Formats: sequence, C-alpha cells, structure tokens
Amino acid sequence: MPGDSVDKENMITCTAPVNIAVIKYWGKRNEDLILPINSSLSVTLHQDQLKTTTTVATSRSFQEDRIWLNGKEEDISHPRLQSCLREIRRLARKRRNNAGPGFDATALSHKVHICSINNFPTAAGLASSAAGFACLVYTLARVFGVEGELSGIARQGSGSACRSMYGGFVQWIMGQQEDGKDSLAQQVEPESHWPELRILVLVASAERKPVGSTSGMQTSVQTSSLLKHRAESVVPGRMVEMTEAVRRKDFAAFAELTMKDSNQFHATCLDTYPPIFYLNNVSHRIISMVHRYNRHYGETRVAYTFDAGPNAVIFTLQQHIPEFVQMVQYFFPPEINGGQFIKGLSVDQAPLSEELKQAVGLEPMPKGINYIISTKAGPGPCVVEDPAQHLLGSDGLPKKTV
Ligand code: DP6
Repeated sequence: MPGDSVDKENMITCTAPVNIAVIKYWGKRNEDLILPINSSLSVTLHQDQLKTTTTVATSRSFQEDRIWLNGKEEDISHPRLQSCLREIRRLARKRRNNAGPGFDATALSHKVHICSINNFPTAAGLASSAAGFACLVYTLARVFGVEGELSGIARQGSGSACRSMYGGFVQWIMGQQEDGKDSLAQQVEPESHWPELRILVLVASAERKPVGSTSGMQTSVQTSSLLKHRAESVVPGRMVEMTEAVRRKDFAAFAELTMKDSNQFHATCLDTYPPIFYLNNVSHRIISMVHRYNRHYGETRVAYTFDAGPNAVIFTLQQHIPEFVQMVQYFFPPEINGGQFIKGLSVDQAPLSEELKQAVGLEPMPKGINYIISTKAGPGPCVVEDPAQHLLGSDGLPKKTV
C-alpha cells in the first residue's frame, strides 16, 4: 500500500548517554511527577562506549503508537512512557498555537513508532533507563519540533534520565514547587572541562537480579530514618562541595566525596526495612582494593561508586589507568584474556610491583569481574544525520538488523 511508507522527513534518529551519579538520587517526594527528596550530581559517560539509539517515525498510516526495545515490542501503555509522550505532544501543541500560519504541524495528529537499542548488553546490569528515556524524549522533541528545556520531561520517564540530557558534569536540582517545574537538570561543566579524568566500569558477576531502584527507594523512604537525615542534612552540603571539587578539578576531594556518598547510599539501603543489598562479595573486595591502593601511595588516586547493583564504576586520572587495570586483572583473574577483558578506550600495559601486590594483599578472586569498560566523560544527546542509521524501515517497522 503506497500510504504505508514513511517519509524520511518524518523519521529522526538520536543517541543519548548513560550517566553515573557521584551524589546519589534515592527517594521521591512525588511518585507520579518523579520529584526527588534531594539533589544529585552525575558524570555523563562517553557514547562511544555506552549509548542508547532511538528512531522515532510519524505517519498518517500508523494506526497506534508502538514501541520496540532491543528488538522486542513492548507495551506502550506504560505510565512513564505515556507521561513522556503526553508532555512532548502538549508542548508541540502549545508551539503550534503560538506559531501562526505556515507552521507544519501535521505530525501532531499522527501516531508514532519508536525503536530503541542499547550498544551494551542489558544483561551487564548497567542502568539503561536513564539513557533510554533521555533518548526517547530528545528524539520525540525533534520529531515534533519542540525546543528548549527537556530535562523536566525526561525526569518523568526515570528520575536519573534528566541528568542524561546534558554532557559532562550535571546536577539535578531537586526544586521546591509542588508541580515539579523547578526540578530540572543543569550542566555544571562540559565534558571538555576535565580531560584527564577517566572512568572504568567493572562489570561484576552477579548471581541474581537485585531489587529495582523504583521499588527499592520507595521502601527506603517509608522505613529509613538514615535516608531522611541524609536528604535533609548531608546532601545539601555535599552538592556544594562536589560542585566546587569538579570546578577546581580537585581529584582527591572529588574522589573522597564520591566514595563517601556511594557508601552512605548503600548504608541507607541497609537501613531500609527489610534491608536491600546491592553490593556483593566482588563489590566489597573492589572497595578494599581501592582503599589499600590509595593507602599504599599515601594519596587518593582512585574512587569507586556503586548504583543499584554490584558493578563498580571507578574514577581515576589517566596516568594511573595502566597500573590500576593491571592490578584489577591480578586480583580478579579473568575468564577471558587480555583484549577481550578490556573494552572501550585502549589501556597500555604496565608492570605491577611486588610491593603493591603485597600492600594490597587480597586473595585473588577468579572470574569475579566479567569485563571492564574503559571510558571517559562525554557529550549529551545527539542527532544522527545519516539516514542509513535509522532503526525503522520505510514501512515503519524495525529493520531486520535491529
Ligand atoms: C542508584 O532513576 O532508576 O542509580 O526515578 O524510579 O526511575 P526512577 O529511578 P532511577 O534511580 C537511580 C538510582 C541510582 C542513583 C542515581 O542515579 O542517582
């Protein structure tokens, strides 16, 4: 049927990054609008290593809104997907009403097809909802000609997604208003600000899937008095200190706050009733290894942080990467060798001194870490200009390769 084909002008593909919080978001004051009980701050990871790609098409021939995630059709009636779609269409309508004659708003009356994939395995347990919702909102906005502040919409898909709307170092200001209009993300510094800063994702082997963030933080808000104390009395000061540390590129201050905040977040999980355990034996060993490494050198050269799962995200400066990676491989002898074990930015070989091995002095744990993704801070969402990269074909359905 000729009417079935989608014009190229009605199809847009964009990519969006993953972010890792160094001051954690945990707990909502409004579940529907996704308003947090404290502000948070994150580093956007480079999309060369970790990204979501999303294609959105509109056509008068589409019968209904549809979505495919990593090759599988999913239920579009999910309330968070609906919030994002509704908000973008609302802004598009507002724009049309203000735009006078000549403004082409035909797409507004059409249904959308959405197709999204990650360039990293979902099974790795890396948070994909932040990149996913950021990409969805960014791409929908392009398709419907919506410009300006979009982090407030991404936030309604998943709280942490609002921080993936910007590159570099990003804060999510909790806001005060009941309607959430002031609960938005803001760039603190761009990705070019601190080029020596490097990031390693240590993908830990896990036996089971942990409790999801949404339900986990709900139980924490209901039961943990430590979380209340953290949100009211600890995070406000830490946000100021962290912003300063980033601006000054003060690695030791940045690293210590990052570790303390990760530890306090996991302490609130333990203070939740019933308790939530996200860290496993591998995570605990990584924590010990980092502290012993830093103690050996008498300075804070490396930091760890953990989200709602056992994977560690490591921050360090470029000059320490080769030795640190060598040490990880020594204490966590991999199942796969060399090149396969380290993905992403290349890492030089380095010798590992006997003194360092002895100072760290841990029992090696074979296969504790599946692989390492070596990356750095990166940019926010981008439009993909090459039409060959669209994930939907001209029939509006996922291409066979997706
Ligand atoms: C531990 O953003 O996944 O990663 O808002 O319910 O979708 P929802 O939760 P989500 O929570 C992320 C929690 C965290 C910390 C962080 O990213 O700040």
